[in-house]
Amino acid sequence: MNGRDPRPDVFDDAFAPAPLEVVDQLLFREAMSRQGAAVHVITTNGPGGKTGFTATAVCSVTDDPPTLLVCLNRKGQGVPVLVANGVFCVNTLAYNDENLSNVFAGRTGARLAEKFDVGTWESLKTGAPVLSSAIVACDCRVTEVKVVGTHNVIFGVVQAVALKTTEPALVYQGRSYKSL
Ligand SMILES: Cc1cc2nc3c(=O)[nH]c(=O)nc-3n(C[C@H](O)[C@H](O)[C@H](O)COP(=O)(O)O)c2cc1C
Repeated sequence: MNGRDPRPDVFDDAFAPAPLEVVDQLLFREAMSRQGAAVHVITTNGPGGKTGFTATAVCSVTDDPPTLLVCLNRKGQGVPVLVANGVFCVNTLAYNDENLSNVFAGRTGARLAEKFDVGTWESLKTGAPVLSSAIVACDCRVTEVKVVGTHNVIFGVVQAVALKTTEPALVYQGRSYKSL
């Protein structure tokens, strides 16, 4: 029990910072590299501008209300843009969109809106760019941003879903792309 919230299932600050013993950062990174994950391009558009970035740190939170989260490094150029817009779209990549993943990860030097020179784009409800070749697109409105260490954990409630191609997914595992 955290002593503040009377509900027995709420643990919002039960694990507040304490001098915990932690594993070596490189060991943790190696552990994470062994976990396969779907590759997504998170896009945003609005008064703050248009941009996107590649992310594997995406997770379903609850279906009531339909909510997912994205973990975004606070150093990225996309952070202030996404927060200012208050909307984002999670575009889950098909196996043949490896190049698009690299562009949105900044590996080709393209910046901010320039990244959209690759791919074909449309939109759903929020105006965030939706990739035509995605497997699925979840269009979200930001509900909460929580800072955890180097990253922002961005929670979004899903406003619209587009079920698109049923081609195999692009997966990142062992520091390389695979298809599933
Ligand atoms: C396969 C792959 C997965 C990635 N996953 C994440 C992620 O989950 N969160 C994150 O902040 N950066 C992730 N990155 C790195 C970002 O894509 C990259 O730092 C970002 O595009 C830089 O954004 P900026 O151009 O807005 O600065 C990933 C990169 C790759 C290639």
